[in-house]
Amino acid sequence: VTAIESVRWSPSGDALRIIDQTRLPAELAELDLRTVDEVVEAIRTLAVRGAPAIGVAGAIGLVASLLPHVAEPTPALDARVLGHARAIRAARPTAVNLPWAVDRMLRAADAARRAGAGNAALLDALRAEATAVLDEDRAMCRRIGEHALPLLAGSAELSVLTHCNAGALATSGIGTALAPVYLAAESGRRVAVWADETRPLLQGSRLTAWELSRAGIPVTVIADNMAAALLRRGGVDAVLVGADRIAANGDVANKVGTYALALAARHHGVPFYVLAPWSTFDPACPTGAEIPIEERDPAEVRGGFGRATAPADVAAWNPAFDVTPAALVTAIVSDRGVHRPPYDFG
Ligand code: MRU
Repeated sequence: VTAIESVRWSPSGDALRIIDQTRLPAELAELDLRTVDEVVEAIRTLAVRGAPAIGVAGAIGLVASLLPHVAEPTPALDARVLGHARAIRAARPTAVNLPWAVDRMLRAADAARRAGAGNAALLDALRAEATAVLDEDRAMCRRIGEHALPLLAGSAELSVLTHCNAGALATSGIGTALAPVYLAAESGRRVAVWADETRPLLQGSRLTAWELSRAGIPVTVIADNMAAALLRRGGVDAVLVGADRIAANGDVANKVGTYALALAARHHGVPFYVLAPWSTFDPACPTGAEIPIEERDPAEVRGGFGRATAPADVAAWNPAFDVTPAALVTAIVSDRGVHRPPYDFG
């Protein structure tokens, strides 16, 4: 149903190729990234975004940034691996998929050196590991969709509300929150999606609406402040959202506004499902209170897309994520199955 490849190897295998998500929906353009600074900048500016996608981008980007340095003395290359890994790891703080993927790459590097690998063999091992991260992410998306579908079986025509973008653009596969939507459409079932616009960077209206309409799936955009009225009106079978980090107790960090949606869904008796791959679970975080929440430039709230939306000198607060308490989550769906409260991912 969807053939979007938001993050992958360039065909020549020497660069990280991404869809530049800052230019959507106006323009579908790709970027090839080869240096650590380019990779960090692309993640920081949300050219590549969504928790699973930045994990994959971190893994492939790390390898691409190391390739030109294969002829360096071994200690210099080893120091470079750590330096690049540290920079990429720190590009954004909330999605645990990024440190998860980078740490996995460092373990692969360590294992290769212990096995006596020279520089070329080290980079071969890292390339294989990054490709595994990419392929596994794609497979996890599909499994998430398969596990979620039975939860959404009730109505002939499926109607869901989603927030931000947890679709193909945010992963290397068919997405997380949107995976059951794509699978339902694939099987011929009628499905319609309400997409929160997702202020201030509009991932819902720019990205979710773009990829769903491209796939021929009916999508209706609403401003974020319309969601509660929509849920009260009725007709929405479920709220489906992704996650950037899930704490051991089931608290969920996701795009800011997710918490408000969960509160409204609970009040109106609409099931609220979080869909995420196992790489998004952080057993080292006991509760949501320990999840680092990225604060972005207040200028993103005061204006954007070429237009001032507030006086230039007014104060603005811009947390990129919020935490939804586990108590408001009907179930969490991962590639391993459906998890119900009480959650214990420790
Ligand atoms: O700031 P973004 O656009 O990277 O935020 C993305 C989200 O909040 C997504 O819902 C989350 O990463 C899950 S994507 C499968």
